Amino acid sequence: MKSLLNLSDLEIGEILSILDEAERFKAGAKCALAQGKLVANLFFEPSTRTQYSFVTAEMRLGCQTLNFNPEGSSMKKGETFYDTVKTFESMGISAIVIRHKENEYYKQLEKLNVPILNAGDGTGNHPTQSLLDLMTIRQEFGKFEGLKIAIIGDIQHSRVAHTNFEVCKRFGMEVYTSGPKEYSEDTVPHISMDKAVKEMDVIMLLRVQHERLESEMKMTEDEYNALYGMNIERLQCMKKNAIIMHPAPFNRGYELTDDIVECPQSRIFKQMENGVYVRMAVVKRALDC
Ligand code: CP
Repeated sequence: MKSLLNLSDLEIGEILSILDEAERFKAGAKCALAQGKLVANLFFEPSTRTQYSFVTAEMRLGCQTLNFNPEGSSMKKGETFYDTVKTFESMGISAIVIRHKENEYYKQLEKLNVPILNAGDGTGNHPTQSLLDLMTIRQEFGKFEGLKIAIIGDIQHSRVAHTNFEVCKRFGMEVYTSGPKEYSEDTVPHISMDKAVKEMDVIMLLRVQHERLESEMKMTEDEYNALYGMNIERLQCMKKNAIIMHPAPFNRGYELTDDIVECPQSRIFKQMENGVYVRMAVVKRALDC
């Protein structure tokens, strides 16, 4: 049973084989054995990209999908999270995709006999986002070893940052952080935004997660962007082949100005495209077909 809970559970070779499979799907590969299998998508937190790229991936594999709406479910009558997921297992679902606000929610589900695909757990991990980030970086540079990446912004609340710190270091990348000190963590070296734009191969911006902040953001958009965001002035300081990434959704004006979103160095929409292929690979792996 091949769940995907956290990339740190996977050997480097297994991560590479998921990326290779994703590239085969991008090139048009099909998966006849996935036809008709039932996959349920349980999103307890809002999502556009992850939720609908999982649905797209499942449909392209020929699976049948169930999209759970917590607001219209028996959870409103007091049913627990565990009992809800157990219900889908009992109905013979072949794999269950879950996003939940609690870090490591999946530890409650260890007894279940159905693959769980983690679509994001609180501020903990976002393994499929990191896989699509790795796919995008490898397409660009053809390697990971020796590349310099700065992950910039609200580090403390970012499951994307937490998963990418671990996996990028394992792949031999030099990992740095930048952004407001109050949202930083001391597990990764901190550099200034101006140094980051001059020296990095990958500038990975993170969303200011207003909904997770304990107190309201005190800076205006312009103040935040001037200190920690990408804009035309900083774009001109980047290395020749460096790229800009962002898991999205993004706050236009804060992490990046409008003219950065679709600039030639931006890979933001390429990341979204790759998300479908990575999720096809992950669902196929879970279905063991
Ligand atoms: N990147 C990401 O997880 O986006 P969603 O929250 O829209 O799924």
